[in-house]
Amino acid sequence: MIDRRNLLKGAALLAGTWPASSIAKSSDAGGIITLTAKELDFSLARKDLPASPFWLYNGLTPGPEIRVRRGEKVKVRLLNELPEPTSIHWHGIRLANSMDGVAGLTQPAVQPGEVFDYEFVAPDAGTYWYHAHNKSWNQVARGLYGALIVEEHDSPVPRANDITLVIDDWRVDQQGNLDLASFENLMDWSHAGRLGNLITVNGTFRPELNVAAGKTSRLRLINASNSRIFQLALEGTEALVMALDGQPVPEPFQPVKPPLILAPAQRIDLLVRPIAGEAFALATQTARETIRLADFIVTGVGADRSRIPAITSNAILEPDTPTARHYRLDMTGGAMGNFVETTYQGRILSRDELISARQVWAFNGVANLADDPMFSVEHGETVTIDIVNDTAFAHAMHVHGHHFRVVRPGADEIDLNRPWRDTLLVAPDRTARIAFVADNPGKWLLHCHMLEHAAAGMNSWFEVT
Ligand code: C2O
Ligand code: CU
Repeated sequence: MIDRRNLLKGAALLAGTWPASSIAKSSDAGGIITLTAKELDFSLARKDLPASPFWLYNGLTPGPEIRVRRGEKVKVRLLNELPEPTSIHWHGIRLANSMDGVAGLTQPAVQPGEVFDYEFVAPDAGTYWYHAHNKSWNQVARGLYGALIVEEHDSPVPRANDITLVIDDWRVDQQGNLDLASFENLMDWSHAGRLGNLITVNGTFRPELNVAAGKTSRLRLINASNSRIFQLALEGTEALVMALDGQPVPEPFQPVKPPLILAPAQRIDLLVRPIAGEAFALATQTARETIRLADFIVTGVGADRSRIPAITSNAILEPDTPTARHYRLDMTGGAMGNFVETTYQGRILSRDELISARQVWAFNGVANLADDPMFSVEHGETVTIDIVNDTAFAHAMHVHGHHFRVVRPGADEIDLNRPWRDTLLVAPDRTARIAFVADNPGKWLLHCHMLEHAAAGMNSWFEVT
């Protein structure tokens, strides 16, 4: 299945730009996109790095970009050629529960050698992504993810100026191989999660991308890293925020307070208007330095002075907060956190037992999935949740199957009133409040998207009946 040709296709990707061949449309091959998950030798595009084993969709990381139109059906056949069970989650898509791809909750994990067919309608336009959802801390870190773009019917920007940038944070060892030995480091699990030492954009270390002068371009930023929170800035140009986690903002705006925070699994769509001869760069700030992630070369001449296009918003039900069912989610645990009595798999465990079970975090005193949901609501009810971060670390909370309004932000994020999100960063000692209409029946996960934190306890579920 993965032959030399596909590997060469991978090599083309590494050369910097996104080859058309890595874009899968649902119109391909009878409407079905096949994603084969398989271990293969791969090298991230930096010249000094050797090839080492990665887990890839169709021989690539990111996997093929899936592009559909809003309202279109997405059909994907997952072929598991990995040495362990897997599944695919369609992050941010408000789809039918049976297609949500959560191994052990919405479907059994797909065993090695087996096939699973996903089929769902993409109801909202925007920037989404897909990733493995069985032992995600391991499978996503090895490369199993890709972009899922749902185009508007009246896209404000032509396809040629619509650029996806999937950012990842890898950890490589001294030889430059993917550092698998570090994946299970409990120190990382109980601190900020596994942080890497090599940041790539579309699988490439510091790619050069071309944009056309005078053409408004849309940059779709996706944070695919296990745990790194990016503090992004565009150097050398002005950018307007047009969408967050797939959902358009009411009016594209320039953030008052840069940098742009992009927590794990979050997306930001930006509009830029490249000016002839004025190269710019995407950079991230760490405590110590500014790292350039991608360079943009502006080709051609001309200037775009047209009005900034607005994008049509998606039809998400507005929460009715006065009648809401209100819940509280206390996040506890981790290094330097207060210890609270914690139940794991139906039993209260001592601190030592929790550590040896690698369950060092909890939501409301429960580590990981219990038999009973955290709460159960009826279809159509509004839910509000206070997310109380009583830990020493930030957490990126993700709700499956729904977008929510951020009633009270959990971090100094983007200066916008009550944005829609599917993943929210909550800083230490902060309490965020979210609100949504539980309009999608089924069993939905609610977890921290720092994937080590989720594996180590920050994982729960709720039910919509
Ligand atoms: Cu990006 Cu539980 O998912
Ligand atoms: Cu977390």
